[in-house]
Amino acid sequence: MKRLSIRGLLAGARRTRHAVAAKATTSVPALVALLFFFAAATFSVFSLGSFRWPGAADDGGAAACDAALARGRGEWMRDAGAAPYYTNATCGFIQNYQNCMKHGRPSMEFLRWRWRPGDGGEGCEPLGPFDAARFFRLVRGRSMLFVGDSLASSHVTSLVCALSQVEAPARSRDAAAGFEHWRFPAHGFAVAYFWTPFQVRWRLTRGPPEAVGPERQGEVFAGPSDLHLDEPDERWTSAAKSHDYVVLSASHWFARPAVYYQHGRVVGCHDCGDSNATATAIVKQPEHAQRAAFRAVLGALARLDGFNGTAILRTVAPTHYENGGWFDGGECTATRPASESEDGAAPEMAATEAEFYRAQVEEFAAAAAAAAARNGGKRARLRLMDVTRMMLLRPDGHPDRHGHGGGEHDGFEIDCLHWCLPGAIDVWNDLLLQIIASS
Ligand SMILES: *[C@@H]1O[C@H](CO)[C@@H](O)[C@H](O)[C@H]1NC(C)=O
Ligand SMILES: *[C@@H]1O[C@H](CO)[C@@H](O)[C@H](O)[C@H]1NC(C)=O
Ligand SMILES: *[C@@H]1O[C@H](CO)[C@@H](O)[C@H](O)[C@H]1NC(C)=O
Repeated sequence: MKRLSIRGLLAGARRTRHAVAAKATTSVPALVALLFFFAAATFSVFSLGSFRWPGAADDGGAAACDAALARGRGEWMRDAGAAPYYTNATCGFIQNYQNCMKHGRPSMEFLRWRWRPGDGGEGCEPLGPFDAARFFRLVRGRSMLFVGDSLASSHVTSLVCALSQVEAPARSRDAAAGFEHWRFPAHGFAVAYFWTPFQVRWRLTRGPPEAVGPERQGEVFAGPSDLHLDEPDERWTSAAKSHDYVVLSASHWFARPAVYYQHGRVVGCHDCGDSNATATAIVKQPEHAQRAAFRAVLGALARLDGFNGTAILRTVAPTHYENGGWFDGGECTATRPASESEDGAAPEMAATEAEFYRAQVEEFAAAAAAAAARNGGKRARLRLMDVTRMMLLRPDGHPDRHGHGGGEHDGFEIDCLHWCLPGAIDVWNDLLLQIIASS
């Protein structure tokens, strides 16, 4: 199996015009330092073309607005008076790669947009500002586990920052088990976070027998990793029982080199350099692997003994690299949201991301139908948090050049994968509140 090759990363990853060849010499150590900037590079971009968003039009009323919200339909509406619910001055949990204000983002215009659900009509109220007091009332005596990669971590940061405006949480880390905790004792609420790029059981192909932690993301990035697509990762599913809400997400890491297993046997690989395995593969594409992984994990949560809570699947949040990838000068310089209604500027999504989204929506629907059909003692609920289209419309929400600060990460100054905090993904908390209120 081959080692990480930057040339290999470059292949098929060019988006458009002027790629900057110099960046192709980025060293592996630099990548290792940059760990979370995984897979965006491996996406090539096509127009969504015939891709169909789920759902059909509705004709107004509160129920229709809720339905549009649940399906991720709506538009970004400018609100000159909108102010972020927290800032880097009022929340100390914002990490460097999210802290666009600290790194000199020139305009705060990207904070002056609110999501208005709907199907083109004017009837629905825009979301926000976030109602932390209401959130706390709804979750008293409960706990919420987030499971996923750095984008899941960003969501945790956004939620904890928003809630910390009402109560400062106590933060702790269980390094051995891989969990991070925030507790809000006055409101009887707790948030936990577990890092995993894949949700299912996995290990570095050339690493230790067990999965590694986020401090070794560089090796995971270089890969390959062994992914057991039909085995939910017990490190976090065993903990899921003690939580009322489990918020799952996984996308971009599936595009990294991997060897796929089912029933303990190799069933394929992706970008792993083994032509035999590729030739005989049953599972060939990252989106097929991701589909299998979500099928296993959602099915397991729905059946998990003792899990009576709500499993929430957050769909893929698209990247917005233009004129290259993260490794060769790609950038995201938009200063306002995209709109489908104006000047016919149809948003585009990387083909692999569109396939991830399709797999997530379809596997969610199948798991929810199976869970509903099963009667008996199980009370687990499955909910979809569809953020894909609303985030696709926010090319202005990424750090771009204002995530790391000049020179801190040589070879990766431009980030169109993660999101500024405060910023566009703060609306995910409003979606979460909506889901909790209706669960
Ligand atoms: C917060 O952002 C401001 C710029 O708006 C910056 O000067 C300051 O250093 C940042 N503070 C922290 C703690 O990140
Ligand atoms: C591929 O299969 C052939 C025939 O079974 C074998 O000789 C060869 O070593 C295999 N290659 C790899 C990389 O496993
Ligand atoms: C889940 O529900 C079952 C059946 O109602 C009950 O026996 C079990 O204690 C519940 N578990 C939790 C964690 O609430």
